[in-house]
Amino acid sequence: MREIFLPLAGQDASHRLLLGPGLRHRLGHLLKPLAFPPRLFVITDRRVMRLYGQEVQEALAAAGFQAIFLTVAPGERAKSWAVVKRLARELLAQGAHRGTALIALGGGVVGDVTGFLASLYMRGVPLVQVPTTLLAMVDAGIGGKTAINLPEGKNLLGTFHQPRLVVIDPEFLATLPQKERLNGLAEVLKAGFIRDRELLAGLGRKGLGIFHHPDELLEVIHRAASIKAAIVAADSREADLRRLLNFGHTLGHGLETGSNYRLPHGRAVALGMLMALKLSEQLAGLPGDESRWGQELLRNFGYVRRLPRLDRRAVLAALARDKKRQEAGLVFVLLKRLGEAVIQENVPLALAGEVLSAVLEGRDD
Ligand SMILES: NC(=O)c1ccc[n+]([C@@H]2O[C@H](COP(=O)([O-])OP(=O)(O)OC[C@H]3O[C@@H](n4cnc5c(N)ncnc54)[C@H](O)[C@@H]3O)[C@@H](O)[C@H]2O)c1
Ligand SMILES: [Zn+2]
Repeated sequence: MREIFLPLAGQDASHRLLLGPGLRHRLGHLLKPLAFPPRLFVITDRRVMRLYGQEVQEALAAAGFQAIFLTVAPGERAKSWAVVKRLARELLAQGAHRGTALIALGGGVVGDVTGFLASLYMRGVPLVQVPTTLLAMVDAGIGGKTAINLPEGKNLLGTFHQPRLVVIDPEFLATLPQKERLNGLAEVLKAGFIRDRELLAGLGRKGLGIFHHPDELLEVIHRAASIKAAIVAADSREADLRRLLNFGHTLGHGLETGSNYRLPHGRAVALGMLMALKLSEQLAGLPGDESRWGQELLRNFGYVRRLPRLDRRAVLAALARDKKRQEAGLVFVLLKRLGEAVIQENVPLALAGEVLSAVLEGRDD
């Protein structure tokens, strides 16, 4: 079993991330040291429930826990006020009190909605994250951000609520659909681009084959999760650092909006990273061969294939709105070298438009 310690200021905020194949079967024993009351609640979506509900229930029972499962429908729509309210009332009806722990078993959606609920129920109850998607293992499950959506937009209501423990079992990924794997892989690649060129090199060698090599998959998750954890831990001292996690996201968000959310987050971010590599060559001194290598890597994973129709003007309009909100103009995370990110302010919108066109015209379908 591997371990990442996440040191944070504030009572009970510091916690550990445990990683290892098959850890779901030991979940109950891993929770023991946290001294939770024996009745606890597992919140999950119906798909994950069907796949892993019984295993997790048994793993908890083996350590003397009685688990009550509450489920939501799979998908982004579970991140709603109505769902939070329904879950809170179910907790109440089942006698959950201030010490009762909530276990988030699922992807980023379940993690966000459970975290949100845990931060509010009785002014806050303990939370454990058990991420089952790659995206949640390396990103959403780490850092204590929680959120639900409003009709007006995503993640508009949110809180910070650190989990007491994060348990990462890469074996969950065996059943994860390819589309969801690619979504998470984009954030892994992001971690590599901003902080870890060896991680990139490894992904370049293995490609999608990584999912068939448990040891290497564990290594990749460990590296990417460590980067997110290190950035979260340093953030209180270095305000700029967390911004680096936005690599590929400035254009990525524009692309998501511009495609009317037909482009999944990971693909939008991958395209955003491809564009950011081009911009990095022009503005941050990224050597041309490194930029081309990075772009090739993203293409090889298939992120540029069969793009939905994208309205270039809508993407740029979304970027311009973003710019209006920020004093420093259009802000991009760019690379000086692979594995070395910098913040670049005041990037001209016209230049962003040029790389956008270049990538959309060079689409390989
Ligand atoms: N809090 C944060 O810091 C943070 C960071 C990034 C993203 N997010 C949020 O995360 C959400 C996206 O998370 P996601 O990509 O994990 O999506 P998700 O939670 O919707 O999961 C994707 C799909 O995979 C299914 N699934 C989950 N685990 C599975 C498994 N092991 N096998 C088979 N199917 C499985 C789910 O049922 C779902 O249909 C977004 O709402 C985003 O806003 C939060
Ligand atoms: Zn992202």
